[in-house]
Amino acid sequence: MSFGSKIDAVKNLLEPFTNHKVVKLSSLRDYFSEPNEADRVLKERGDVVVYEYYERIFGEGGGHINFGLTVMYPGKIGREYFLTRGHFHEKDAAEIYVGLKGVGYILMQTRDGKVEARVIEPDTVVYVPPGYGHRTINTGTEPLVFFFAYPSDAGHDYEAVKEKGFAKLVVEENGKPKLIDNPKYLMSPMV
Ligand SMILES: [Fe+2]
Repeated sequence: MSFGSKIDAVKNLLEPFTNHKVVKLSSLRDYFSEPNEADRVLKERGDVVVYEYYERIFGEGGGHINFGLTVMYPGKIGREYFLTRGHFHEKDAAEIYVGLKGVGYILMQTRDGKVEARVIEPDTVVYVPPGYGHRTINTGTEPLVFFFAYPSDAGHDYEAVKEKGFAKLVVEENGKPKLIDNPKYLMSPMV
């Protein structure tokens, strides 16, 4: 049966949806390169929302396409911009992102550490190839809003990123985003 969802560009949401998740700073503390800085922000500003997403998802079966809308809020922990947790797909499944508002990066990485990064902004489509873990970073001062879609049987592996992180960090340098090596990653490459 066909169906549609509407993107509300004023409220930054997609409806109807089957799943709405709000991700706060406390749950991302250890994903930042400076967790102590995250603690400082938590103390000063409370448990702020870093990102949230609305999804229309199917069960485990294949053949469908899950899709949704992510809203990432602007902010930094130390020099590092707000980021999503990031994940690999369990299957070799690609993903499509369509930028709607704001500006940021889609950071992509193979399991053996090959990194690619693409700017996501309005009217931009980013193709994340199969086999690449992916994370989004809001490098702007406004909410970064984008649409995403991926095969319904892709599956999600969050553990690899949790343990090793990404090989690159996206930090602010002289007021601009810059990719730098992640020193923690170099000590324990993801293989
Ligand atoms: Fe994904």
